[in-house]
Amino acid sequence: MGSLLVKPHKTPTPTKIPYAVMITGANRGLGLQVVKDLLASNSCHLIATCRSLGGEGSRELEELAAKESRLTVLELDVSNPATFSKVAEAVDGIVKENGLNALVNNAGIHIRKGLEDVTVDDMAQTFATNTIGPLMLTQSFLPLLKRAASHASDKPLGWQRAVVINMSTILGSISSNDKGGLYPYRSSKAALNAITKSLSVDLVKDGIITCSVHPGWVQTDMGGSNAPVTIEESVQGMLKLFAKLDHNSNGGFFQYDGSVMNW
Ligand SMILES: NC(=O)c1ccc[n+]([C@@H]2O[C@H](COP(=O)([O-])OP(=O)(O)OC[C@H]3O[C@@H](n4cnc5c(N)ncnc54)[C@H](OP(=O)(O)O)[C@@H]3O)[C@@H](O)[C@H]2O)c1
Repeated sequence: MGSLLVKPHKTPTPTKIPYAVMITGANRGLGLQVVKDLLASNSCHLIATCRSLGGEGSRELEELAAKESRLTVLELDVSNPATFSKVAEAVDGIVKENGLNALVNNAGIHIRKGLEDVTVDDMAQTFATNTIGPLMLTQSFLPLLKRAASHASDKPLGWQRAVVINMSTILGSISSNDKGGLYPYRSSKAALNAITKSLSVDLVKDGIITCSVHPGWVQTDMGGSNAPVTIEESVQGMLKLFAKLDHNSNGGFFQYDGSVMNW
C-alpha cells in the first residue's frame, strides 16, 4: 500500500541533455550560477571560461573544477579574438567526436555612460566584449557546433543538439527604450541581437539554432543589490528555457521566464 504512495522519480528525458556546454564569463554572477546549477542537475560536460585564472576572482570556479571532473575551466578573454582558436583546440580535445552542443555567450560589461561623457574607448571596449567577442567566438566554435549537430542528428533542434545562446538584455531592445542614455551597453546588445538574428538564419541549415536571452534585472555585481530578481531565480528560469528551446525558438529573444521580448 505504502509503495503506491511513492511519487515516481523524475529523471530528465535523455534527449534533452546536451553532451557538452561551454559558457563564457563563468567566474562570477550569472555565469558561475549556471555552472553550479548544471553541475547539480545535469550530467553534461561543462567548459567554463574565465578572463584570467589563478587569482581571487576565479578561486570559487577553480575550486569547483578541482572537485568535479565534468567541469573544465579555461582562460578566455572574449575581447581578444586572437586567442579563440587555441581555446577551440582545447575544447576539441575535451568533446572529441561529440562536438559542442551549446555555446553560451555570457561574458559582458556595462559601462554606464550618457551622451555627455561617453568616449570612443567606452564604445570600443564595450563592443569588443559584448558584440564582437560573441560573434568571433561563434565563428571559431562553428566546427565544434556543427560536429555536435551532426553527431546528434537523430535529435530534434535544441540544446541537446546545437545552440548558440547570446546573453542580451532588455536594455538592448530598441522598441523598449523609453529612457535613452547608456550608449555603450544598449547599442552593443542591440547589435548582439542583430547578430543573433543573422546566425539564426545562417546556421539553422546546419542544425544549429540561435537565440538572445534577457536574464531579468538580476542581483549580480552588474545588476546591483536593488535588482528584483535573485541569481538563483534567473538561472533556474534560464536553464528551463534552454532545455525547452526548439525550432520555434530559432532567432528569438526571450526573457529568463520564457516570455518573448520585443526587439
Ligand atoms: N545582472 C543583470 O541584471 C543583467 C541584466 C541583463 C543582462 N545581463 C547580462 O548577463 C551577462 C552576465 O552578467 P552578470 O550580471 O553575471 O555580470 P557580472 O556579475 O558583472 O559578471 C560579468 C562576467 O563577465 C566577465 N567578463 C567581462 N569582460 C570579460 C572579458 N573581456 N573576457 C571574459 N570575461 C569577461 C566577468 O569576468 P571578470 O570577473 O574577469 O570581470 C564576469 O565573469 C552579461 O552579458 C550581462 O550583460 C545581466
